Amino acid sequence: MSILAIETSCDETAVAVFDSRGGLVTELVSSQIQLHQPYGGVVPELAAREHLNNLPILCSKVLEDAGIGVGDLAAIAVTRGPGLNGCLLVGLAFARSFATVRGIPFIPVNHLEGHLWAGDLLESPPELPFLALLVSGGNTAIVLVREFRDYTIVAETLDDAVGETFDKVATMLDLGYPGGPALSRLAEAGNYERFPLPIGVEHDPTQFSFSGLKTAVLRLVTELKNERRREALEMPALEPATAADVAASVENILVKTLTLKLRAALSRYPEVRSLLLTGGVAANTRLRKGLTELATEQAISFVVPPQRWCTDNAAMIGAVALRQLKREGPRADIDRSLSLTKAALPRWPLSELR
Ligand code: KG4
Repeated sequence: MSILAIETSCDETAVAVFDSRGGLVTELVSSQIQLHQPYGGVVPELAAREHLNNLPILCSKVLEDAGIGVGDLAAIAVTRGPGLNGCLLVGLAFARSFATVRGIPFIPVNHLEGHLWAGDLLESPPELPFLALLVSGGNTAIVLVREFRDYTIVAETLDDAVGETFDKVATMLDLGYPGGPALSRLAEAGNYERFPLPIGVEHDPTQFSFSGLKTAVLRLVTELKNERRREALEMPALEPATAADVAASVENILVKTLTLKLRAALSRYPEVRSLLLTGGVAANTRLRKGLTELATEQAISFVVPPQRWCTDNAAMIGAVALRQLKREGPRADIDRSLSLTKAALPRWPLSELR
């Protein structure tokens, strides 16, 4: 008997099939980046409609790829939140109807908890207790994971997420959307130390803040553009070398900020044995390098899942569902009576999980 997992919390429609022993058999993701690109960000209504279109197609295909039929499914897991309300509702309605018609358990999963347990998909997962640095377009947090459902939020953001900061600075530099990867590529040619930039709430190890940095970069870019205007009349864009220096300085301060708070967390929790990096920003090479050095210095292991399991994916949703099934048996189907009007939880902090 197999398990089907579904993720539709933002702009990726993702499905995965697990076998009865909990092994991932196959998975599919359909990204909507091109659809949202002209708008410079995810348009919730368009994203939800796209999920509605994609989900049945992807589910049929993933079952076919796994070589099974609907009758072989023993349970269905789906992201309940946090995420975009309309997008979550599409996944929930689909999964709930499917589970009801088939008479199988329906397991709603917290998306952030999925990121914490992406290590279950690896041959060498992080050792407990571990610290997870969760950095994506929508989240920035350091979480101490002692065991399943035993989480302490060590630090979280007061305002923007780190991925959002990468994206907003990229927009200031006219790099398009999503700008994080483009900004990082541009930074490679730049001077990481050229422009001094602020670390938000530097002396508070329990919080991140990126709004001050964003304002500082906006001022810097405006000033640099004004200089260009004074020199060369109608040439408001930055010189490529200057833009690269801005990108490098921003990347440098973001990596420094994350490393600083992690170092503080590690000294507060000396029992930590591993560091897990997850979320879309885990693709950042400079961040990986900085954290590899930090982990080596602290004599703990450093784990980064492959990128497809760091960004939004259904495999991590299935990983949590399997843990839930193992812990609660048939009781994992706790929300069969859930009213769908209250099913989607756009805000669902990890601290609320029991
Ligand atoms: O987890 P994810 O795929 O989805 C959202 O939370 O939306 O994360 C996407 C985020 C975007 O902000 C993107 O710019 C950022 O991850 N990102 C990067 C890099 N690759 C993706 N940020 C910095 N450097 C990268 N190489």
